[in-house]
Amino acid sequence: MELIDLRSDTVTKPSPAMLEAMVRAELGDDDREGDPTVRRLQDLAASKLGKEAALYVPSGTMGNLLAYMTQCTYGAEVIVGDRSHTFTSECTNAASVHGVSMLQIPTTGPFLDPARVEAAIRPALRVCPRTEMVWVENTQVNYMGRVTPLANLAAIQEVARRHRLVVHMDGARIFNAAVALGVDAARIAQYADSVMFCVSKGLAAPVGSLLAGSKDFIERATWQCKKIGGRMRQAGVIAAAGVVALEKMIDRLQEDHDNARFLASRLADLPCLEFDPAHVETNIIQARLRHRRYNQAQAIQALHERGLWVLRSAADGLRFVTHYGIERRHCQQAAAICREVLA
Ligand SMILES: Cc1ncc(COP(=O)(O)O)c(C=O)c1O
Repeated sequence: MELIDLRSDTVTKPSPAMLEAMVRAELGDDDREGDPTVRRLQDLAASKLGKEAALYVPSGTMGNLLAYMTQCTYGAEVIVGDRSHTFTSECTNAASVHGVSMLQIPTTGPFLDPARVEAAIRPALRVCPRTEMVWVENTQVNYMGRVTPLANLAAIQEVARRHRLVVHMDGARIFNAAVALGVDAARIAQYADSVMFCVSKGLAAPVGSLLAGSKDFIERATWQCKKIGGRMRQAGVIAAAGVVALEKMIDRLQEDHDNARFLASRLADLPCLEFDPAHVETNIIQARLRHRRYNQAQAIQALHERGLWVLRSAADGLRFVTHYGIERRHCQQAAAICREVLA
């Protein structure tokens, strides 16, 4: 039985072009004189985001951590959305590694309200922690992969500048946002001082993320990266796939978005799955489960037994993510399995 894996776009396998590039990659010691393929990936990433420089790191988690470590003083406070990935999955990293606490603010719909951001900034009093950073996420993984409007990003940047705060963007899926908006990623990245994005998600490379920003920021982030053991050696072997990801895999994200919309249109008829299909803007569907027989775990198990692998979403939902390797026929089949099991 073929198992259709819609848990996440992190499950993608490298394309044949990536595997070939990995075999042929020109290599060096990236922590000494440098690895030419890593350098190529970093230059390409910086130019795609319109930033001066970029650093290749093993994971999105590390890229985000380096953003705090490099731009915040120890013990600072960062303003984040209450359902941002960094809050739901990474907040103890920031606290334990760099003493950074997160002030979560409720999001209005899926987006941070600039007025709420401004109201959350601490007064400059010795009794208060120092607010040093505002965190935005694009696309928003815990809100159906929704795309933050450019005007919202611009307004948040304006508040941050007025209060001399840094803006970091967790752009793990920034290229999904760019494709959905029909703009270059640099148009989105311009609203943040630093941006992290992953080549290991919808872009289908096997490993890695990039952190981008000014030259000075990247130089300091590289020191911090060394400190936490993140510097790699002949990393060109994996970076080569990242180069292919940036050169060849961005435009095809539209296929994932179309497939997600198609699947959403089929799932929308199932009364036990509650979600708004109009909110499917990229490659993620999250639906609240209201089933009279199955709870969340039982539904996931029953779907898995029929050949469909989905992920839990919050306390009571299911998540379906389309990605490289998932074609229209898989989405048709996934919808049929859901109907059979859940209807
Ligand atoms: C929005 C977002 N940011 C950061 C990360 C962390 O990336 P990684 O799994 O590469 O550490 C993820 C992972 O799913 C994510 O969805």
